[in-house]
Order: sequence, then C-alpha cells, then structure tokens
Amino acid sequence: METEKVDVLSGIQPTGEAHVGNYLGALKQWVEMQEARRCFYCIVDLHALTTQPDPEALRRASFDLARVFLAIGLDPERSALFLQSEVPGHADLAWVFQCLTPMGELQRMTQFKDKAGAQQGKVNVGLFTYPVLQAADILIYRAREVPVGEDQVQHLELAREIARRFNRVYGKLFPEPRARLSRAARIQGLDGSGKMSKSRNNHIPLLAPPEEIHKRVRKAVTDPQRLRRDDPGRPEVCNVFSLHGHFSPEATVREIEEGCRSAALGCVDCKRMLAENMAAALAPIRERAEALDREPERVREALASGARRARAVAAVTLEGVRDAVGLPV
Ligand code: TYM
Repeated sequence: METEKVDVLSGIQPTGEAHVGNYLGALKQWVEMQEARRCFYCIVDLHALTTQPDPEALRRASFDLARVFLAIGLDPERSALFLQSEVPGHADLAWVFQCLTPMGELQRMTQFKDKAGAQQGKVNVGLFTYPVLQAADILIYRAREVPVGEDQVQHLELAREIARRFNRVYGKLFPEPRARLSRAARIQGLDGSGKMSKSRNNHIPLLAPPEEIHKRVRKAVTDPQRLRRDDPGRPEVCNVFSLHGHFSPEATVREIEEGCRSAALGCVDCKRMLAENMAAALAPIRERAEALDREPERVREALASGARRARAVAAVTLEGVRDAVGLPV
C-alpha cells in the first residue's frame, strides 16, 4: 500500500481547556511546522481516560480542542488532525511496546511520580503505562520530529529507547524521534508554583475573553522581593515580565525591563499592559473558535478526513510490526 510519509507528530490531551502554556510551548510550533513538513496532530482521548473524565465532558473537550486546532491556523488540507481513539493501531502498538518495556523505566518517569505521589499502588495502570502509549502515538507514523513543551522531554527519551529496543530485537523498523522545543518550552503558572497547567488552575485559557485575561493576570505573582511600588523590581525573576516576551513588541519589552528595574513602572501597569497585549494577540483565535462553534460540521469533517489519513499510515506500520513479531498479517 502506498502511503504518505509523516515528518512530525504531536498530541494534546482533551482534559479541559487549552491554555497559553500549551499554545506557546507546543501549538504555535505546530502551525509553523506545517508550512514545510508533513504533520500529523492528534487529540489524545485515550490518554485522557487515565483521569477518568465524565464521558460528556470528554466528548465536549475533544470537540473544543479540534475547534482550537482550526482556530489557531492548523490547516486540515495539509495536516492530518484527528482523535487518537479513531485510529485503532495506537493501542495495539502500545501493547507490543509494553511487552518490551521494563517496569523500572516507567517507575522513573517524573510525570508518573508527580501524579501518583505516595499513592503508587492505588493509581490506575493506564497512568503507569501512559508513556508507552505516547511512544506508540509517535512511532506508528514513524515520525521523526515531535514539537512539545519541556515536560514531555523525558517521555520522548523513552520513545527513543523503545524504538531502539524494538529495532534491536526485531529488526529495524522505527526511526528515533526527537523532541522539538520552542523558546517557550516551559511557561510558568500565574501563581509562581511551577509550570502553567489546567490541573493547578494557574493558567490563562487560550479562548478566555479579555475581562478574564485581565482578571487572571491581575492576580499573577511577580517578583516576591518587590514589596512596595517604589521598590525596584527584578525582571529576570518575574513571570509577568517573561510573558511580555511572548506577547509584547521587542521595544516595549526593553522599556518594561528598564521601568521595572528603576521602579518607574509599577506591577499594576505592567500587568495591565501584558493583559492588553495578550488579549489583542489572542482575539483572532477566539473569534475564529466562536465562529466554528456555529459550524460544527467543519470541525467534524476535518477530524474525519484526518482520521482516514492517519488510519492508512498506521495500518502499514502495524502490518510491519505484526510480521516482525510473529503475529499473522
Ligand atoms: P499535554 O496535553 O499536557 O500538553 C500539550 C502540549 O503542551 C505543552 N505544555 C506546555 N508547554 C510549555 N509550558 C507549559 N506550561 C506547558 N503545559 C503544557 C506540553 O509539553 C505538550 O507538548 N503526554 C502529552 C500528550 C501526548 C503527546 C503524544 C505529545 C500524548 N501522546 C505524542 C506528543 C507526542 C501531554 O499530556 O501533553
């Protein structure tokens, strides 16, 4: 069977609303990469099952993410956009990979350790084997590049290790995929507690209206040593300042930096400027997403054609895998 060659694969979980961290860390690169490469992007609904979401919420979140895909400029004519669960091969390949992966390698995954905490014996097995399914997501398309944020780098290392192991045991079938990080690979949360994430509610939703952006930015943690308006600030430790770097023009960023250091600019004004620039930058995305809410057919068609393309590529890889490991083809 003749199938297309895939250069890039990435995925995002439908576990709530997409946020500015997802956008700057991953999604924005996805759009740029589709200009020159063959890209496959999926909404990883099987991964979301590890959090046991309400079925209706999962359906809604999956649709909403597909809407975001189109709204940020992913083009379904170029890139295959699809739901992971609509390509059965992901889970099949994950099983083959599970049989090649020592438990110790999964026990070392920091995301698993963070999520399971002291409850390792009680969390579901899906959460444990999650990175193996992620490896299958990538390798089933034999993709070489994976645009992601920094928190996924360890999972990518595992995917490379799995590819190497499979090739060693059964003969060379897979390339070793590489993580592609943007300069925004780790966007901090507004509460200063670590990375921006939905689960910590320290995020700015990508589709937030301007009032909500202002409200959330107003509460953001800044330089903790800047206690009074007249204290000079340290932009290098201020998360609001680092976000300016992604939403404000270069000249404004330099002015803010100086203003902060000399105390000429207070945090209230600095935050107001950030919220304004962010709201302006995100407005076209929100408007397109709202328009797509009135045209759900366009979203569904994009997913259906993406899934067809993905199934065709996945079927060929899976046939090669079945043959290599001794299953009937
Ligand atoms: P997920 O759904 O948590 O996040 C989607 C993408 O957004 C990036 N990201 C961030 N980047 C910078 N700063 C942040 N604060 C931030 N928060 C999230 C993530 O790094 C990711 O690139 N396991 C993956 C989904 C997945 C996947 C795959 C990715 C499943 N299969 C195959 C790539 C290839 C995850 O949970 O991403």
